[in-house]
Amino acid sequence: MTKNLYIHTIGCQMNVYDSERIAEGLKPLGYVTSSLETADLVIANTCSIREKAEHKVFSFLGLLADMKRKNPNIIIGVGGCVAQQEGKKMLARVPYLDVVFGTHAIARLPQIIKQIELNRRTVVDIEMLERIEEIPAAPELTTRNKQMNLSEDGNKATSFVTIMQGCDNYCTYCVVPYVRGREMSRDPESIVKEVRSLVKSGVREVTLLGQNVNSYGKKEGLCPFSELLSRINDIEGLQRIRFTTSHPKDLSDSLIHTFKHLDKLCRHIHLPVQSGSDRILKKMNRKYSRELYLEKVEKLHTACPGIAITSDMIVGFPGETRADFEETLDLMKTVEYDSLFAFKYSDRPNAPAASFPDKVPEEEKKERLRLLLELQGYYKTKKNEAQVGSTELILVDGFSKKQTPEIQNQDVQWTGRTSSNKIVNFIQGDACDKIFTGKMIPVRIDKAFPHSLWGRAMPCSDC
Ligand code: 5AD
Ligand code: SF4
Repeated sequence: MTKNLYIHTIGCQMNVYDSERIAEGLKPLGYVTSSLETADLVIANTCSIREKAEHKVFSFLGLLADMKRKNPNIIIGVGGCVAQQEGKKMLARVPYLDVVFGTHAIARLPQIIKQIELNRRTVVDIEMLERIEEIPAAPELTTRNKQMNLSEDGNKATSFVTIMQGCDNYCTYCVVPYVRGREMSRDPESIVKEVRSLVKSGVREVTLLGQNVNSYGKKEGLCPFSELLSRINDIEGLQRIRFTTSHPKDLSDSLIHTFKHLDKLCRHIHLPVQSGSDRILKKMNRKYSRELYLEKVEKLHTACPGIAITSDMIVGFPGETRADFEETLDLMKTVEYDSLFAFKYSDRPNAPAASFPDKVPEEEKKERLRLLLELQGYYKTKKNEAQVGSTELILVDGFSKKQTPEIQNQDVQWTGRTSSNKIVNFIQGDACDKIFTGKMIPVRIDKAFPHSLWGRAMPCSDC
């Protein structure tokens, strides 16, 4: 008998990957993904990185109260970082939950759901493990690609692959080591096997995920990350490799060199700096200086001219003065990031910075965020405009969800990304062949918008 499953995913790419594993794991029980309205099982996969993300979790769970009242047979579960952090305290706040499962409980979830279906007793499972439990993530249609980013054979073109979980870095603002546990890397064999099977199902690009992929395998004595990349690069049929996130302190020369040698590695690195002030970096326990960071940026440009660099920034960390913040703006002017995620500092349970003195007032954080985003807007536009007139190879991701206003009704619009991770919406134009998801196609960039580029497909060079 088929039953309907709805997964609501909040947070990072790792949660997206985990939601896919949850959906895969529940398939043998008869669950297929559906809309929220028709769901027999609703799962919120949650994030607690900042207070705002946590609010989102509780407001989504609040919406379910009415559903549960109308249909007490619905099973409601909450997993991920908030579930790990709060454990059974969740039940006091959301009494109609049937299951609270932590970040290490995904492999056990099918068993838990089976049990709840039988006896309707609430389960809380936030046990943390010493090693990664492998769940083969069958590359089929699941939560992420419900819409239309399907290739000719009905599958998706891009996929995440988690290569490690947890974090040992203990940045003083961050909750991740407490909710995701200690750093653990997956065996390279099983990663390569997973990528191969994804490629077989039509995937052309993989993004390797970890809190700090640069320290992949070090603890377990597995192969270095650069070697893992090289093994994945050899997989026939795969066109592109991306990875995230890189911790600047562990970005080795050998990894920087992979950008030179590996033809499938995309010309983009996400290298979060968090702050441009040495004083604040120290308080954050980031273990690198501004100078060292800039040195790495320089090396990246030498190894891979034109590489896109993106970052995360926190404004208003406790004790951050206006002068510290100016140093962050100054660093941004030096690096000229292609794109940036910027956040107001937020106190997190267990994170040491929550008890640091000299908290920055909310209004001041807001103002710093505004100034930072304004500056970044300038660089983003500059970078996007520099692309106009060039021809870029795009991996087609599907139909464009939003029709670019000025171009509406002209032609079917497709969407995809450049190697440097810029979104490009484009029309069939002069393409010599049919366009489909998963195809690599040259696109001439005609226009730049603040968050995307627009162009027309060109004939392939080998036509
Ligand atoms: N407050 C604000 N931003 C945070 N981040 C992590 N913890 C916090 C926090 N307590 C940001 C960092 C990190 C990104 C994923 O989230 O910039 O790189
Ligand atoms: Fe959090 Fe720092 Fe680990 Fe990133 S490296 S997950 S910011 S503790």
